[in-house]
Amino acid sequence: MKFLIVGDVVGKTGVERLKNELKKRSDIDFCIVNGENSASGRGIRKREYEEILNSGADIITMGNHMYYRKEMASEYSKLTRLAIPANITNLTGNKNVVVEKNGIKVGVINLLGTFAMGDMIVKNIINPFKVVIDQIEELKKQEVKYIFVDFHAEATAEKLAMGHFLKDKVNCVFGTHTHVQTSDERIFDTGMAYITDVGMTGPKDSVLGLKTEIAIKRFTTGEYAHYECSDNEAIFNAIEIEFDDNTNKAISIKRINE
Ligand SMILES: [Fe+2]
Ligand SMILES: [Fe+2]
Repeated sequence: MKFLIVGDVVGKTGVERLKNELKKRSDIDFCIVNGENSASGRGIRKREYEEILNSGADIITMGNHMYYRKEMASEYSKLTRLAIPANITNLTGNKNVVVEKNGIKVGVINLLGTFAMGDMIVKNIINPFKVVIDQIEELKKQEVKYIFVDFHAEATAEKLAMGHFLKDKVNCVFGTHTHVQTSDERIFDTGMAYITDVGMTGPKDSVLGLKTEIAIKRFTTGEYAHYECSDNEAIFNAIEIEFDDNTNKAISIKRINE
């Protein structure tokens, strides 16, 4: 079974690029997309949720940016294919999502890291290393064949530690959030696929999706400047993983940065 995992989709041009890429990839069996920045860089609305699923994605994962869309707080639990971070205590939604395709059940867990996520967020989350074990147990009760973990975190060490921690418990741990793809994709000896960060599908000439001039103003003056999502042409960052369906072990992992 072949999976495509797409890194943080940012804004309108990111969603458009995702749609175009999925049209070209008819060999993909299952697609997981991080959509935490799809609504003009900040969170997701029902509109982007539907657009991303209609483009061919199977499950959408979230991250810290869901906090910036207060009007969505009561909506997340209605979005059945949206996995919100399982270690959040003050927002409700699906803490894991299972989708069955061609008779194979795939489960996805989303987690937030604890380093440099902002005080407001960190005080409302619990240790992802503890929470993930319960979530895996729950997915195993549902007899899922493949388990994927999107660890949405800033620190490389935290993500790599999660990879080692879960290498005999799940089929893939991938990182999101930094918007910059890492070149450390690997398959552990247990057959689990891993990458520290998938990267971003969003405006290339930007600072992680934010308009460059606004980012420079923020850093040069130290003053707050209102966030505006850049709208130039988007790059496509993803990973493609193939599994042996007899052993459930990953055979290959390939980075895409186009
Ligand atoms: Fe992001
Ligand atoms: Fe993020």
